Amino acid sequence: MKKDIENKKDIEKLVDSFYEKVKKDEMIGFIFTDIVRVNWERHLPVMYDFWENSLFYTGSYTGNPMEIHKHLHKLIPLTSGHFTQWTLLFTSTVDELFDGEKATLAKQRAVSIAAVMQFKIIPPDKENKN
Ligand code: HEM
Repeated sequence: MKKDIENKKDIEKLVDSFYEKVKKDEMIGFIFTDIVRVNWERHLPVMYDFWENSLFYTGSYTGNPMEIHKHLHKLIPLTSGHFTQWTLLFTSTVDELFDGEKATLAKQRAVSIAAVMQFKIIPPDKENKN
């Protein structure tokens, strides 16, 4: 039986597995590897803090993801398809590794933040359907 997300080590496992999928993904991988050329040594610890804060309210993340993705949208126009794929990869990674209250919360957070982010970045009238 799968266990719930209980501590920082579990979060690291979730985030690492998620980005392994992201990097290889045909639809969104290139955004991370070719457009932004993410510095993983820097980005992964930020994401550990982000998810630790989201699930355990540690105050460990104080950044502004909305602004960062607005900026990203100027480099590469993000589509609803990109957001759907991001969400699918994240929720399937959670489901593969964990089960429980925090696992459910992580999926809910991801889905709702993605929806708000998409809405703020791509106004519905300008949405393209790719
Ligand atoms: C189309 C979907 C998305 C794409 C392509 C995307 C891509 C990226 C990229 C390229 C970065 C910058 C990495 C760097 O610093 O080098 C980033 C940062 C980040 N993303 Fe996303 N992202 C997406 C959706 C989301 C969603 C839905 C969330 C939250 C649930 C999220 C949370 C974050 C956070 C917290 C950061 C770090 C911001 C910081 O440095 O403070 N992303 N994302």
